Amino acid sequence: MTPTRAWVLLALAGWSAAAAAYSVLARASAGTTVVLVALGPLVAGLVQAHRQHRTVLARLDRQRVLLDRQTAILESHAVRSEQRVARVDEHVEGLADLGPSLATDLDALRTTLDALPHREEFDAKFRATAADIITRTRKGVAVDLLLTFRQLEALHNLYALGGVDRPMPPTRGWASSPDLLLLLATLVEREEPGLIVECGSGTSTLWLGMLLRRFEIKGRVVSLEHHEPFVESAWATVLRHDLAEYVEVRYAPLEPVELDGTTYQWYSRRAWDHLDGIGLLFVDGPPGELGRHARFPAFPLLVDRLTPEAVVVLDDLIRPDEQEVLERWLAARPGYHADRVSLEKNAALLRRTSPPAQGRTS
Ligand SMILES: C[S@@+](CC[C@H](N)C(=O)[O-])C[C@H]1O[C@@H](n2cnc3c(N)ncnc32)[C@H](O)[C@@H]1O
Repeated sequence: MTPTRAWVLLALAGWSAAAAAYSVLARASAGTTVVLVALGPLVAGLVQAHRQHRTVLARLDRQRVLLDRQTAILESHAVRSEQRVARVDEHVEGLADLGPSLATDLDALRTTLDALPHREEFDAKFRATAADIITRTRKGVAVDLLLTFRQLEALHNLYALGGVDRPMPPTRGWASSPDLLLLLATLVEREEPGLIVECGSGTSTLWLGMLLRRFEIKGRVVSLEHHEPFVESAWATVLRHDLAEYVEVRYAPLEPVELDGTTYQWYSRRAWDHLDGIGLLFVDGPPGELGRHARFPAFPLLVDRLTPEAVVVLDDLIRPDEQEVLERWLAARPGYHADRVSLEKNAALLRRTSPPAQGRTS
């Protein structure tokens, strides 16, 4: 039994005893006594009911608070869900906009893929191209080897002709190639030039001097060089080969010269002005990088100093610039003709055309 229940029973017992005592003392009727005794349990029942009612109300209150809290949580979830739905709507709208362009891109991609050759076809083409490249590379290397071998042969013949007994400077590249040097050697031997003028010093300067000595020609080489360090290096090799008697390397800085209304940079007049009786003119400078037709002035400026039998050699005819220079030379001097020689860098030999023999009939 709980303490409250014990108290209620005690109070009821007390009330009943008090009601009975009052009825005896007040000589109350039986009905009044019954009512008085019954009032106790009735009030106790009412009090008990009131107390239970309050307990239920308190429980309901607590549940209401809980419900309020859950409602608030649900409402905040609802707000966030609405925001998410709004964002998804935006994306959907964006995708809808993108849809047509995506479809176009896909179509374009499909068209490109359709246009591509089939895999087997592509592989076959790839193999054919690779085979073609290999074949052409092999042919190119074979041609290159052959040409290099030709240069070696020319160099070998040149060494034999020149009676070389000391190391010689390199050929090819910036210097003359062996096949041209061999051509110069044949010209020197055949023409026996008393004066050789060279435009642009280097390996050829030394060879020309050696060939004069070798063929015992009473001649000399005057080499015009615009770049002072190359004057010194060419001169040093001349001295090393005891060729000072045959070769002179002249420092001839470039200066402006006007011809046919065009200004060129060419070797200083002081360096060549007194030269006359040129039997061989070798034009291998100034460098082409100086400008268009950089070698053009050689012929117009020196043509009147050539002997009637003189030969003019123009190197690097492989270049369009030199080809144009040759055309201009020939156009300006119809009395000269040119033979084009196929060499590594090609060259042209210019000579005066022999006048027709007097009194000859055809
Ligand atoms: C085409 S090269 C002349 C080459 C020369 N006739 C020969 O056959 O060796 C023209 C210019 O090259 C320059 N040169 C000379 N020796 C050189 C060298 N060792 N390296 C680079 N350039 C040089 C000189 O200024 C020369 O006038």
